[in-house]
Amino acid sequence: MKLVAALLASSLLTAGHFTRLHFSQSDKPQPDSTIGIKIPPGYRDWPLITVAHEEGKLNDLRAILGNKAAIQAFRKGKRPFPDGTIIARLAWDYSSSPENNKAFGQQQSFVAGHPKNGLQFMVKDTKKYALTDGWGYVQFNEGKPASNLVHATCAPCHQAAKERDFVFSTYAP
Ligand code: HEC
Repeated sequence: MKLVAALLASSLLTAGHFTRLHFSQSDKPQPDSTIGIKIPPGYRDWPLITVAHEEGKLNDLRAILGNKAAIQAFRKGKRPFPDGTIIARLAWDYSSSPENNKAFGQQQSFVAGHPKNGLQFMVKDTKKYALTDGWGYVQFNEGKPASNLVHATCAPCHQAAKERDFVFSTYAP
C-alpha cells in the first residue's frame, strides 16, 4: 500500500513538474537522476573502456563504453570527469558456448548471450545533477526507462567510488 501511494505521489509530482523529487520505498524524497536523458545515438560505436563479469544474481558479461569526453578523461586519468562525459554500461547473459567448447575440446568458453540487466548510462552535468553528485543516472530496459525505485539505487551505491568521481571502472589498456 505504502508502495502504491509512493508511486502515485511520484507520478503526480512528475506529471505536474512541481519538483524533481521522487519517493522511494522508504518514503524519503529522492532526487531525479534521470532528467532529460535519452539513449545517446551512436553509443554502440563508442570506444571500449573496460569489460567486467558479474556473478551471482546478475550473472552477466558487461562492457563499459565512453563518449569522446569520457575516453579522453579515462586515458589521461583526469578526475573529476568534465561536463559532457557519458559512460555506457552494456550487459549480456554469461552464456556457455557449446560450439566454441567443441573447437577447444573441453568446457571452457563463455560468450555474450542475450542483452540483460538493462542498458545504463552515467551523464556528467554538475549543475543539472547536483543532487546526485553531478552525475545523471539512467537505466533502459528494452528501450524504456526503468522505474523510479530502480533509479533511486544508482547514486547511493556509486558513493562507494566517491574518490574516483563516483566511477568504479578504470581504463583497461
Ligand atoms: C549495488 C551497487 C550499484 C548500483 C545499485 C548501481 N551500480 Fe552502477 N556500478 C556498480 C559497480 C560496482 C560498477 C563497476 C563494475 C561493473 O560494471 O559491474 C558499476 C558500473 C556502472 C557504470 C560504468 C561506470 C562505472 O562506474 O564503472 C555505469 C554507467 C553505471 N554503473 C550506471 C548505473 C546506473 C544507471 C544505476 C542505477 C540504475 C547503477 N549503476 C546502479 C555498482 C552499482
